[in-house]
Amino acid sequence: MDSNHLPPEMKSISGFSKLSKRGKIKWIVENFFKDPENVMRELMSYWVQNEEQQKVLDGFSENTISNFVLPYGVAPNFLINNQMYCIPMVIEESSVVAAASHAAKFWMTRGGFRTEVISMIKEGQVHFIWHGDPSFLHEVFPKLRKELIEKTGYLTENMRQRGGGILEVSLEDLTDKEPGYYQLRGKFDTRDSMGANFINTLLEEFSQHLKLFMSQQQEVPEAWKDVEVIMAILSNYTPECLVRASVSCPVQELDQALKDMDGETFARRFYLAIKMAHWDPFRATTHNKGIFNGVDAVVLATGNDFRAIEACGHTYASRHGNYASLSDCRIENGVFHFWLELPMAVGTTGGLTSLHPMAKRSLELLGNPDAEQLMQIIAATGLAQNFGAVKSLVTTGIQKGHMKMHLVNILTRMDASEKEIKEALVYFKDKVVSFQSVREFLDVIRKNPPENQQILA
Ligand code: MEV
Repeated sequence: MDSNHLPPEMKSISGFSKLSKRGKIKWIVENFFKDPENVMRELMSYWVQNEEQQKVLDGFSENTISNFVLPYGVAPNFLINNQMYCIPMVIEESSVVAAASHAAKFWMTRGGFRTEVISMIKEGQVHFIWHGDPSFLHEVFPKLRKELIEKTGYLTENMRQRGGGILEVSLEDLTDKEPGYYQLRGKFDTRDSMGANFINTLLEEFSQHLKLFMSQQQEVPEAWKDVEVIMAILSNYTPECLVRASVSCPVQELDQALKDMDGETFARRFYLAIKMAHWDPFRATTHNKGIFNGVDAVVLATGNDFRAIEACGHTYASRHGNYASLSDCRIENGVFHFWLELPMAVGTTGGLTSLHPMAKRSLELLGNPDAEQLMQIIAATGLAQNFGAVKSLVTTGIQKGHMKMHLVNILTRMDASEKEIKEALVYFKDKVVSFQSVREFLDVIRKNPPENQQILA
């Protein structure tokens, strides 16, 4: 029987997490693969040679059996606020790093990227149910707020010394959604750390103290002393942790954007493409995906949480009631303006940023930025990526650039030699690339000596 079609009980296991790493691999290869020995060898071939380093990587997650390797590339020539950067990017998609590099070089000679952090506030919530008179809760809240801040002073001391801490605690009445539903909402400044642990620890302390505080209220009905905390967690939506990146230049200077299009036509087509991503959520999703090609690649390379940043960005893209472009464009008095506003909670200390050896190197490559600088670098990369993608779309189309790499990837998968790759690049210059066409091309040149290759003529 095919091992992938074993009855479910044969593939289940208890105590898997207690097995050694080799034990885990052994169980997996024996139960799920046809050639266990080869698969075991392959999985182990991706272990980092240095055992200590491998232990560090294993410590990031659970049930680890190997490492999943992704390309680590760099995009040089990023001029951001008059400073040059070479941006580290971790991404598996071809053409992304090339597009970022081209866009960076293009804008380098047109003033570069201008970036600014608009605000750095993060939020968290304690969601709770309380059945009492709302006016009583509002009445006692100022006292509760003071106590919440005081009682968690020991947790915030370090952060306060670094200039951060709790900025605000407020009470939200959501009883219109559900009887008795309220929130404690905290606003926090977590300086150069992403702050998830800091905020979540504080919120759990808030929950404990909220329960205690209400249980100690005198001369109120017994039911009012009881608070049911449903959950306490930061919000990954951080619209007040916001960064802006922009580029601009006279429309005439776009004349060199492409050989076959004048600056005015290019600017008009580019402007319309951006507006289309404002009008149509189907286009907006792909448009923003292009922005996140750049954003996520730097977020990953610097050991930050790309899921949080994606989720936040997409919520922000819907802030006006429908999902729309995160970037915008304006042509005014002969000047082309293109910009991006993105909420982004990233850290440059703590978490993976200081543990992952490559994340540390990425930050070093960027000159060890603080969180505000990293936000700006990431936003500039997202804008560059968006510019590169939309520029291709409104001029040559996206496939031209993609296809060369796609072709090389297909050829590599088909074990093509360097000579065959060279020949294929020439042959496919003006032809459509597909698995089938590449397979046929290789078949022909492998079967036929060069003098007999009329089919390729
Ligand atoms: C591909 O990964 C990203 C693009 O689709 C973005 C866009 O359409 O703007 C090219």
